[in-house]
Amino acid sequence: MAKYIVDMMNERIDMDNRVAVVAPETRPIGEEDFQSCENTKVYWLGGGGFMINSRGTVLMVDPILETKSTEPLVAAGNHKMLRPFPMETKDVKKCDMLLFTHDDGDHANPETVNILADRDVKMLGSARVFETLVKKGMKPDHYTVCHAGEKYYIDEIEIVILPGDHPWQLIDGGRCFYPEDCVGFVVKTKDGTIIFTGDTRLLKEHIGIPDVTLLPLDVSKCVFHLGRPAAALLANKYPDAYIIPYHYGTFDYPECPAQEGGDPELVLKNVKHGKERGLIVGPGCPVTLQDGKVVR
Ligand SMILES: [Fe+2]
Ligand SMILES: [Fe+2]
Repeated sequence: MAKYIVDMMNERIDMDNRVAVVAPETRPIGEEDFQSCENTKVYWLGGGGFMINSRGTVLMVDPILETKSTEPLVAAGNHKMLRPFPMETKDVKKCDMLLFTHDDGDHANPETVNILADRDVKMLGSARVFETLVKKGMKPDHYTVCHAGEKYYIDEIEIVILPGDHPWQLIDGGRCFYPEDCVGFVVKTKDGTIIFTGDTRLLKEHIGIPDVTLLPLDVSKCVFHLGRPAAALLANKYPDAYIIPYHYGTFDYPECPAQEGGDPELVLKNVKHGKERGLIVGPGCPVTLQDGKVVR
């Protein structure tokens, strides 16, 4: 008899015939990736995490880099992995600011954050992320609680806070994410503008952001994320932006619709010039921005 599971969206997954979508191979991030440069480089870290090196200023969005010491393909927090992380936290040579979108375990990872907080890295995120991380041992000194609509600056980078809408606990019980608990970020650098929505349903605030160069695009199928139709809609609102598909293909977690069933091709086929604009890169592969364009 076939072995199957039912995920949180009540979709049946036949585990005997399951073929997981796997991201391209991981490229290890090395010391050279932290050096000052004449452009901005964006690296997917796997899952929902990113690193930005903009002319030597290094930001990280929702980094999770720690694995269980005995099992290198099991992340701290117990997510089994399809692809390794591009580095461990100890390999982060420089980090000027950490940005957190929300406090799900695949975004605000205490094991990773505690190491960086002990190095006095500045942090920006919601009050709920702060509360969770402090309870799990984070040194609180350099954390700023942010709210949608605010602007922050670090070196020559402007960060605008977007709202988020991600109440997935409606189908799983527990304390729901309220609107103020989840945020996104518009990161404006000298080399171009990048939108990090975080895990969220589509909101009007995601539309109409000027001069977007790069759109990391959540391609998971979960209805408490963009979901495939709204992901394509969002990409079509920014016809000149390049796209990095993410939130698929790095964690092996079939019960969770946010991790299983994400597929860049299923979104990009409904995106105008999706084949040309979609940059399907593995964790740790840099995408370079310069003069408001992606350098190919
Ligand atoms: Fe989430
Ligand atoms: Fe997530």
